[in-house]
Parts: sequence; structure tokens; C-alpha cells
Amino acid sequence: MEVDKEVNDGSLILLKQGAEARVFDSIFVGRRCIVKERFSKKYRHPTLDSKLTLKRLNAEARCMTKARRLGVSTPVLYAVDPKLNTLTFEFIEGPSVKDIFLELGINGVIHERLDDVAKQIGDAIGKLHDGGLIHGDLTTSNMLIQNGTDLLVLIDFGLSFTSTLPEDKAVDLYVLERALLSMHSSCGDVMERILGAYKKSSKQWSSTLNKLAQVRQRGRKRTMVG
Ligand SMILES: Nc1ncnc2c1ncn2[C@@H]1O[C@H](COP(=O)(O)OP(=O)(O)OP(=O)(O)O)[C@@H](O)[C@H]1O
Ligand SMILES: [Mg+2]
Repeated sequence: MEVDKEVNDGSLILLKQGAEARVFDSIFVGRRCIVKERFSKKYRHPTLDSKLTLKRLNAEARCMTKARRLGVSTPVLYAVDPKLNTLTFEFIEGPSVKDIFLELGINGVIHERLDDVAKQIGDAIGKLHDGGLIHGDLTTSNMLIQNGTDLLVLIDFGLSFTSTLPEDKAVDLYVLERALLSMHSSCGDVMERILGAYKKSSKQWSSTLNKLAQVRQRGRKRTMVG
């Protein structure tokens, strides 16, 4: 990609090539950073495509900033470049929750560690939801545990949007539940612990969890039909 090396004063190391974005490890004004580049979809009309790409880029930046305002740790946003379609964030040093849970699954569950992480996850989602923010991609790879502080940092607001509907909040939780079931079943019922913390954190937990029960049922029916 053509990201100006002068601007980033360093090299770009490709970390992830996704369907919609490329993620690089780089340096921004002497600090380690993440550069996320949204690229165009070749099948879309060029004008429409650049409009949509820019809209998503701004939405991701806005949602991440909003999450911070709501008291959820996210990387600091260093820069938005609408010409190169890049966002530059603070690099968070530390493992993903996915790595931690996989490790716990293999080497035996340490209940305090699991409880601490689950509590932080439930608490963070409760804060987002009460503030009317839906993360949209709650998987364990989009959650990092910062070295030193052991604080949960949420990343990847690329599919985030604002909504106060219990249905949207329930689907947000359901995505996480499915991810935990498929990836981390050896960790036991982590979702139950997460929901315990969510109930304490979100004032509107009751309507959301009622909806979650319906969303689960729909999911089960779909599995039976499919
Ligand atoms: N601020 C950060 N600090 C450290 N690592 C990060 C940071 N942001 C992203 N990463 C790493 O890069 C990976 C991909 O980033 P991200 O999840 O934002 O992109 P993506 O999943 O490709 O995005 P999208 O779902 O919007 O297509 C993360 O799973 C994580 O390992
Ligand atoms: Mg991601």
C-alpha cells in the first residue's frame, strides 16, 4: 500500500489481511502503533465505493472514541487519513482474550483469572450498551488484555453502530456467546460469568436478556431447519 513512510516514520509490518481491511504494525511519531487500512471493493462503483469506505472509516473512529467516553478502554486514536483510508491507533501490548482462554483451556482453568477477564468483559459491554453503542463483532480476538495493568481493551469497532434497541444488544451478546461456545468450550460456562457482570453493569439488563433468550431460540430453530 502507499501509506507515506515519512508520515509514519517507520516500516509497516503486515499483521492481518482481512476481507475489508489490512492491519499493520508500525511507528507513529516514535510510538509503536497499528495502522488499519480499509480498501476498496472492486465490484462496487468507484464513487460509491470511496464514499462507503470513508463512511465506515469515520464510523469506526467515532464509535471507538464514543466507547472511550463511556468508560471502556480502547486504544488511543492517533490519526485518521481520509485519503489513504487509514486509522492509526495506539499499539496495545498484551495477549488477546482468545489466546488467554485457549491457554486456560489447554493448561487447566485458573478460576480467578477466568473470573477477572469475564467480569471485565461483562462490565465493558454493559457500559457500551447503556451508552447506546453496539460493538457488532464481539469475539475474543477483538479483546486484548494489556500487559502490566491486566486491563481489558476493546478493539475493532469496524462493525459498530449506535442503537438503544434491546434486540441489537441481544444480538451483540449472542455473537459473543456463539464465539465462546465454538472456541472456548473447555473453559466452562464463561458466558454465564460474563452475563453476571453485565447484569451489574447495565441498568437495562433485564430487557436485553429477555431478548437474548428469544434470539437463542431463533438460533436453535435455524440450526434444526438447516
Ligand atoms: N490497537 C491494537 N494493539 C495491538 N494489536 C492490535 C490493535 N488493533 C488490532 N490489533 C491486532 O490486529 C488484529 C486485527 O485488527 P482488527 O480486529 O481491528 O481488524 P479486522 O478484524 O481485520 O477488522 P474488521 O473486522 O473491521 O475487518 C487484531 O485481532 C489484533 O491482533
Ligand atoms: Mg478483528
